[in-house]
Order: sequence, then C-alpha cells, then structure tokens
Amino acid sequence: MTGPIIVFDSGVGGLSVLGPIRRALPDAPVIYVADNGGFPYGTKTEMEVATRVCALLGRLTERFAPAIVVIACNTASTIALAHVRAVLEVPVVGTVPAIKPAAAVTRSKVIGVLGTVATVRQPYVDRLSAEFAGDCLVLRYGSAELVQLAEDELRGRPAADRAYRAVLDGLLTQEGGDRLDTVVLACTHFPLVADRLAAAAPRPLTFVEGGEGIARRTAHLLAEAEWPAPPPPGIALFTAPDEGVGLLRPALGRYGLTDIRFLQDPTPCR
Ligand code: DGL
Repeated sequence: MTGPIIVFDSGVGGLSVLGPIRRALPDAPVIYVADNGGFPYGTKTEMEVATRVCALLGRLTERFAPAIVVIACNTASTIALAHVRAVLEVPVVGTVPAIKPAAAVTRSKVIGVLGTVATVRQPYVDRLSAEFAGDCLVLRYGSAELVQLAEDELRGRPAADRAYRAVLDGLLTQEGGDRLDTVVLACTHFPLVADRLAAAAPRPLTFVEGGEGIARRTAHLLAEAEWPAPPPPGIALFTAPDEGVGLLRPALGRYGLTDIRFLQDPTPCR
C-alpha cells in the first residue's frame, strides 16, 4: 500500500497547495505539516531555513514513511529544495514562484513577484526571471505582513482592506508599477487571501499561483499508487503546541484535516 502524502509549510499557507492535491488525488491519505514552531520562515536567514527544513523533513519521513513530500512553501523550496532532495529517499516536489505562467499572461509586460522577504532575494528568482520573463520588467516585494494577514484570516480574524492595499502598494508604487497588470503570488499563504487582495486593488490585476501545477506533478508521480479504502481522515500536524489551534479547525476541516496532532505528542488532539 502506498504511504501518505506529506504536504509541508511553516503555517497554513500550504493549504493553498493541499486543495488542488486533494482534488487531483481524493483517495490519497495526507499529512499536512505546519511548522508553527519555526514560523515565520520569510524573515529567517537561508542557513536557518535550510537547517530546520532538512532536519524536520528527515524526522517526518522516518516517522511516517510517506510516498512523497510536497514542500508547499516558496521560501523553503527556493532556499532548500536541493538540500532536501539530497538527503531524503522519497520524491520531493517543491513550490517555486509562478513567473513563467505570469510572463505568458501579462499584456503590459510588467509583473510583480509578491513573496516573503527571504524568497524575493533568492538567486532562484533571478534565474526564473531571466529564463522565462526576459522581455518583462519584474518587480519584487517581500511582505511578512501578508503572511500574518493570511494566518489571521484563516483563524476567523479578517483585517481591513487597507492592510491589503498597503501590501499591494509595495509593488504598485515602485518605478514601472503603474503599468503592472499581473502579480505572482510567490508565497503559498497568499492565494488564501487572493480575493482580499483583488478587492483592495486600485485596478483589476491578474493573480497567478502554482497550486494546480504542483498538484498535477504530484498526481503524475503517484500514478501507480494504491490507496487504502476508505481513505483515513486527513492529519494536520503542528510542530509546536498551539493553544489557538481550535480557531483553525473550521479552515482545516474544509481541506478534510480533521485529525489534529502535535509533533511531540502524535496522539489525536480532542
Ligand atoms: N508559506 C511560505 C511561503 O510560501 C512562507 C511563510 C513564512 O513562514 O514566512 O513562502
């Protein structure tokens, strides 16, 4: 029998990748891992992110023997994907900024990459921009605030439109930003609040993200899998105790994650 799919992020952001994976592979057992003990990744150094992600994924693959690991986090993927692939013995799918599809849809040839502070400074983003968006002006903006806004939104604590507008202004007020028509949501937290961003935008913008592509890749790699029937309840595993986790239950439930656990104590949390 095929092992579960581990979908990994620092927080709730990876749910934007889990959604399309669930639709593509409805019978697959999933373990959604939120490294809330290391959250946020986007303000950490490359060394901190790489060390933590490699160690944690090593431990998780030993414990759960997954069929595949999906790093549903742009920060962890752009920094540590190669390191993780070098140490794990299972296939690893990463999440990288959707610059290629954005370059294919922009009409103004000005695109914005909205990610974490750590992601937007990665050479990986330079390479994607040079390879796929050579004819575009690529503006970048890193926002720790938007990560937190998404975490709050999923806990049922929505912020005002002006908080979202302030984030978009980080791109729109840069030189050339007046012509920007397409925004790459280069952090998995951001598609979760794409409608809030769209509502706060001063003009229509196209938002592009990679969740569907990651799901297709994952399904392709698991084409031969044999899943248990019926599929077990989805597990949400937090790396640190979190008294506020109850606030996340409705959001987790929408993704079929009804079995909530903590890494130190893998028994179900009632
Ligand atoms: N969701 C993560 C990403 O895609 C990072 C959020 C954070 O921990 O800063 O980059």
